[in-house]
Amino acid sequence: MTSVAEVLSLYERWGGHNYDEDLAQAEHGLQTAAHAEAAGASDALVAAALLHDVGHLLALDGQSPARGHEQTGARYLAQLFPPEVTSPVALHVPAKRYLCAVDGGYAATLSAGSTRSLARQGGPMSRAEVIAFETTPGWADAVALRRWDDAGKAAVASSRSIDSYRPLLVRAAAAPRLRSP
Ligand SMILES: [Fe+2]
Repeated sequence: MTSVAEVLSLYERWGGHNYDEDLAQAEHGLQTAAHAEAAGASDALVAAALLHDVGHLLALDGQSPARGHEQTGARYLAQLFPPEVTSPVALHVPAKRYLCAVDGGYAATLSAGSTRSLARQGGPMSRAEVIAFETTPGWADAVALRRWDDAGKAAVASSRSIDSYRPLLVRAAAAPRLRSP
């Protein structure tokens, strides 16, 4: 069983590493969480924003394959957190494909890394995929998370540490499950 302490220790070990961006994992999570907090997001959604790329850290740690990080991350977090946290994590890559389909200006705003990965992730959604996505539990939270994710790639240093989110993560882990997975 994963604990909040274990999740935080993953970030201690691997948070300084970059992935497909010129930005450390911990810094990217912190910036994404800061955008979520500024928007008044729930504890669950701030936790999702902070940890949305944990699949990349699991890959660095040798615990999962590098591809499909949104699924491996969501499965890992599901040991600890409710669907309000894990669904947006699982859907943050489909949310990129969704936004590319429904928002004409969105694709041009993607970072170089996100643009590179779009094709291997399936490219923009088809009309049928868009309709199906909009019936998926957690899809709107995933779209919000995706926009904070895209905005969370600035070349500035956060004033907070990952560990400062420990109380919020404990609250999010203890929250009653409002929605079935
Ligand atoms: Fe991200």
